[in-house]
Amino acid sequence: MVLKREDKSARQVALQRLQLQDVGRATEIYLEAFGSSRSGRLGAPYARAYLRWFIAEPTAVTLGPWVEGELLGFAVGAPMGYQRKFNRDLAPTVVRCLLARPRLFLDGEILGALVGRLRVLLRRRSTPPETVQVPEPTVCLVGIGLAERARGLGLGARLYRGFQEECRTATNARSLRCITHQDNIPASRILASLGWQPLYEDAHGYISWYKVFDSESGSPGWSPRHRPNGSHS
Ligand SMILES: CC(C)(COP(=O)(O)OP(=O)(O)OC[C@H]1O[C@@H](n2cnc3c(N)ncnc32)[C@H](O)[C@@H]1OP(=O)(O)O)[C@@H](O)C(=O)NCCC(=O)NCCS
Repeated sequence: MVLKREDKSARQVALQRLQLQDVGRATEIYLEAFGSSRSGRLGAPYARAYLRWFIAEPTAVTLGPWVEGELLGFAVGAPMGYQRKFNRDLAPTVVRCLLARPRLFLDGEILGALVGRLRVLLRRRSTPPETVQVPEPTVCLVGIGLAERARGLGLGARLYRGFQEECRTATNARSLRCITHQDNIPASRILASLGWQPLYEDAHGYISWYKVFDSESGSPGWSPRHRPNGSHS
């Protein structure tokens, strides 16, 4: 199927929750979108386990865009605090993926990510330390991606907007969070156009974004609260 810019029209795109039978196609898309990322380098077994986890997790939100019956992307998210259960449930898969690709033990980025995940597990805290708070409950948009040939057609904005709406209607979320890299121009443009606000940027160029549902633009009448001395509960 050849996709054109007009394919973004509401008629042709069906946004629906992902089901277990979509994992195979969604895995291909995950690898196209994130194959070179830290998680993507763990390979297809990790991508499958990741997608299955969100589809099976009752509190999670998943969404996919279908054009003429073909799945062309995915978006997955879960309420803040999901990380601990996610890390614990995916640990056996991560270990199997690493043992199947021992060269990954030499990959500094992957080792750094593993240490981060272990810290979340061992600290018995469900989320990494935060110095800024948005209204809770908060749902994290954990991953969103399109098949390569479906990009640049406006489908990404449809999927981000659909994910927001799904969170608003299917969960009691008062805010959303997500992280993108500063070099990711399409994602940043879409987030800004949908009223998300950048919260802070880490030393590696990853920007933490938020959107508050209580207000139209995401922030008027509300601004992030900084916890005193950077402490957290
Ligand atoms: C991020 C993603 C979902 C965006 O969806 P998309 O449909 O491809 O987005 P588009 O190509 O329509 O681009 C969105 C906007 O960025 C602009 N844009 C894209 N590339 C650009 C560039 N290199 N420089 C400047 N602007 C750019 C587009 O013109 C568009 O702007 P507009 O809405 O003002 O017209 C998709 O690119 C993707 O799957 N990327 C890989 C995975 C990923 O990065 N996920 C997000 C982070 S988790």
